[in-house]
Amino acid sequence: MLLFLPLLLSLLFPPLPTLSVNQEGLYLQHFKNSLDDPDSTLSSWNVHNDTPCSWFGVKCDATSNVVHSIDLSSKNLAGPFPIGLCRLPNLTFLSLYNNSINSTLPPSLYECQHLEHLDLAQNLLTGALPSTLPDLSNLKYLDLTGNNFSGEIPDTFGRFQKLEVLSLVFNLFDSTIPPFLGNISTLKMLNLSYNPFHPGRIPPELGNLTNLEVLWLTECNLFGEIPDSLGRLKKLTDLDLAINNLNGPIPASLSELTSVVQIELYNNSLTGELPPGMSNLTRLRLLDASMNQLSGQIPDELCRLQLESLNLYENNFGGSLPESIANSPNLYELRLFRNKLTGVLPQNLGKNSPLKWLDVSSNQFSGSIPPTLCEKGQTEEILMIHNYFSGEIPASLGECHSLTRVRLGHNRLNGEVPVGFWGLPHVYLMELVENELSGPIAKTIAGAANLSLLIIAKNNFTGSIPEEIGGVESLMEFSGADNGFSGPLPQSIVRLGQLGTLDLHNNELSGELPNGIQYWTKLNELNLANNQLSGKIPDGIGNLTVLNYLDFSGNRLSGRIPVGLQNMRLNVFNLSNNRLSGELPPLFAKEIYKNSFLENPGLCGDVEWLCDCRAKVKSQGYIWLLRCIFILAGLVFVVGVVWFYLKYKNFKKANRAIDKSKWTLMSFHKLGFSEYEILDCLDEDNVIGTGASGKVYKVVLTSGEVVAVKKLWRGKVKECENDDVEKGWVQDDGFEAEVDTLGRIRHKNIVKLWCCCTARDCKLLVYEYMPNGSLGDLLHSSKGGLLDWPTRYKIALDAAEGLSYLHHDCAPAIVHRDVKSNNILLDGDFGARVADFGVAKVVDATGKGPKSMSVIAGSCGYIAPEYAYTLRVNEKSDIYSFGVVILELVTGRLPVDPEFGEKDLVKWVCTTLDQKGVDHVIDPKLDSCYKEEVCKVLNIGLLCTSPLPINRPSMRRVVKLLQEVGTEKHPQTAKKEGKLSPYYYEDTSDHGSVA
Ligand SMILES: *[C@@H]1O[C@H](CO)[C@@H](O)[C@H](O)[C@H]1NC(C)=O
Ligand SMILES: *[C@@H]1O[C@H](CO)[C@@H](O)[C@H](O)[C@H]1NC(C)=O
Repeated sequence: MLLFLPLLLSLLFPPLPTLSVNQEGLYLQHFKNSLDDPDSTLSSWNVHNDTPCSWFGVKCDATSNVVHSIDLSSKNLAGPFPIGLCRLPNLTFLSLYNNSINSTLPPSLYECQHLEHLDLAQNLLTGALPSTLPDLSNLKYLDLTGNNFSGEIPDTFGRFQKLEVLSLVFNLFDSTIPPFLGNISTLKMLNLSYNPFHPGRIPPELGNLTNLEVLWLTECNLFGEIPDSLGRLKKLTDLDLAINNLNGPIPASLSELTSVVQIELYNNSLTGELPPGMSNLTRLRLLDASMNQLSGQIPDELCRLQLESLNLYENNFGGSLPESIANSPNLYELRLFRNKLTGVLPQNLGKNSPLKWLDVSSNQFSGSIPPTLCEKGQTEEILMIHNYFSGEIPASLGECHSLTRVRLGHNRLNGEVPVGFWGLPHVYLMELVENELSGPIAKTIAGAANLSLLIIAKNNFTGSIPEEIGGVESLMEFSGADNGFSGPLPQSIVRLGQLGTLDLHNNELSGELPNGIQYWTKLNELNLANNQLSGKIPDGIGNLTVLNYLDFSGNRLSGRIPVGLQNMRLNVFNLSNNRLSGELPPLFAKEIYKNSFLENPGLCGDVEWLCDCRAKVKSQGYIWLLRCIFILAGLVFVVGVVWFYLKYKNFKKANRAIDKSKWTLMSFHKLGFSEYEILDCLDEDNVIGTGASGKVYKVVLTSGEVVAVKKLWRGKVKECENDDVEKGWVQDDGFEAEVDTLGRIRHKNIVKLWCCCTARDCKLLVYEYMPNGSLGDLLHSSKGGLLDWPTRYKIALDAAEGLSYLHHDCAPAIVHRDVKSNNILLDGDFGARVADFGVAKVVDATGKGPKSMSVIAGSCGYIAPEYAYTLRVNEKSDIYSFGVVILELVTGRLPVDPEFGEKDLVKWVCTTLDQKGVDHVIDPKLDSCYKEEVCKVLNIGLLCTSPLPINRPSMRRVVKLLQEVGTEKHPQTAKKEGKLSPYYYEDTSDHGSVA
């Protein structure tokens, strides 16, 4: 009976499932349980198996069935680093590449002794690198790319014994690159790119890494010279030192890198000539030394190499291009734009090599375009703008079906464009602007299936615009102004549903506007000024909801003004100089619209600058005229007396230094005041603020209206002493144009610029007055407590919406360049509006660099880290500054404060969060019941201040994130979204003007 007991027991209690798998399987189960596995990747990890060897991603030794490798890359797994896996006694390979592992690394990984390959790239790991990592004495491969590791590289790292690959790209390391890395003599690959390192030099010790094959130090904040010692790296195949501040010459020792295949030195400040001896680099395929200050000639020596790609753009190379470059058999990329190259291009360029990309724009090349460019049929881009090329476009290019991007603008090309050239099927940008090309647009254009931008203004094109243009469905911009196009616009043109810009001003177009223009639902700009168009303006025009720019001036249009036009929000609106008649729609009966309707003798309306429609009865005409004259004479007299009185009164104020007669006024709104009234009120008593570029006055006008007047003086003012950031103002012809654009901006979260007055040495900007002053003043004064959390949240959202408008809804986008709490103003209800936008852009020009953008703008504590060394201004730097404003709102602290020591607010928040927790970060004046919301907004602020620009969300996204906090409906999205592939950095857009 006893014999049956086990059987009975096993029937009653079937074996527990966990009992069948071995100990290794249990460790793996434990790992599985610690993870979030939304895609059920680990469903095959089944405890009924004896061993885990058949489980997904697990590999065992074939004889002993012991796990030696785990590969779970890109499986959407989330959770902490699985230190428990190190208990697998023979694990040598572990890859969790591209998941959401989100903890820190444990201080000791001693258990992982056997690991040879550890790939944790593209995860969410944080914290410092454990200094014990080199104790993994078998480790050969360590990839931590794309995490949020911070701090310094531990000094134990010189002790790795077998390490061959060390990749720390895209993290937050902020010390300098340590010399002891030169002790890891086994190293073959050292990748440290894209970290916010402190400024430092390339340690010469790296020259000791004689096994090194790849040295990748892009954007590591390096300065100083490239050490000679790098020439000792005889096995090096890739040398990438791009996007740093390296200076001095390229050392001659680099010509000893006999294995090197690619050298990237672009975007530094290197000077001198390309070193001699480059013909030793027989394996060199790619050389990119663009964006430096290199000079001299492009050496003939280079042409003896098997180069595939040669990029030397934005330097000071002179002389002509060596003829022999055309003999390079593999050359597919040649970019030499923005140099001082002269002479002709080798006329057989492209004959011997599969040339794909050619960019020689902005040089002084002359002569004709080599007819062989596309001989191998692979040419995709031909970019030659701003040179002196002459002659015809070679007929052979009309057959070059591989072309996608053609920019030949601003040359002296003449003759007719080859017929086939108009209809190339893959071309999306065709730019021929400003040449002397003639003839018509060929009907073959119907074949241009991808054409989105057709920019052929300022040539001598003639003939009518072919009906076939209606077949170019992708067309977004058609700019053909300043040509001799004649005849009517083809009816088919209304079929272009993608069209955003149609600019054909200054041509000889005639006939009526086509029917159905309401189908242009994406049309933003319509400029047909100065043609001979006749007939009516179609009523459908009122349906073009995104139209922003409308100019029909200087035509023969007749009939009434479509009432629908009143609904549109137009920045430019010009119907002057036509034959329009009838009554002016009532909304347009305002002074500001006067210039839009001038010179239309048949128009009438209830404004002084048009005749009164009722008075049009002819017989009464002259009585009316007489009456007008009397009234006018009376008015002149009264005005004269008043003027004399005022003049006399002012004359008495002899201390006024301003000569009013020299003022010119530019206004953007209908004004209820004059510039003189404002000038009279600029007393020192009325000063409400002093900024970097001038004083701000509060002016109460006689009408009771209040405005703020900013007075900009010429001259340099130091704003930010320690950082050597200068704000200055050099007389700039662009000022008026710029202010004009800004004046036309209408948005509820942007301070209105009423007008701008200019005199010889002083400019006045008149803004709407904001009674609660600036956010900065209020927040950092004793009244900071007035701002409770809901108000602060609203301010953040308002300001974000204003900035989002500047970035995304203005064309061209406006970069504020000086976002700070002092430039966010508060109205009577604490609604926030962004002020001073863009003006900074024209006001700041210290003339330090050749490009106006190479000027540091912005204020201490708000300047994005990349800005300090790249001098690149874009939306991302605004977003960083806005992030600082958010941190100010959350913490109630100043962006720079002696209390932080060396740090600024961003660093202070990060370290305090790490070391003491969130309660030490949040402004103690805020009610703790909002803590959850405050934390969410704090996170958005941290996101915006990510050291790497790509990790910062766009302003549009910021608005969205903030709104989500308000509605509390959606959980905070993961930080991962900011991570993009390295391809993000390959900016495919051209330098230069178009698109
Ligand atoms: C890590 O991810 C897990 C799973 O998504 C989540 O529950 C946990 O809160 C995260 N931990 C941290 C520190 O973000
Ligand atoms: C696994 O590791 C142990 C000790 O670390 C070693 O003795 C054994 O030979 C290894 N087994 C295999 C199959 O590699």
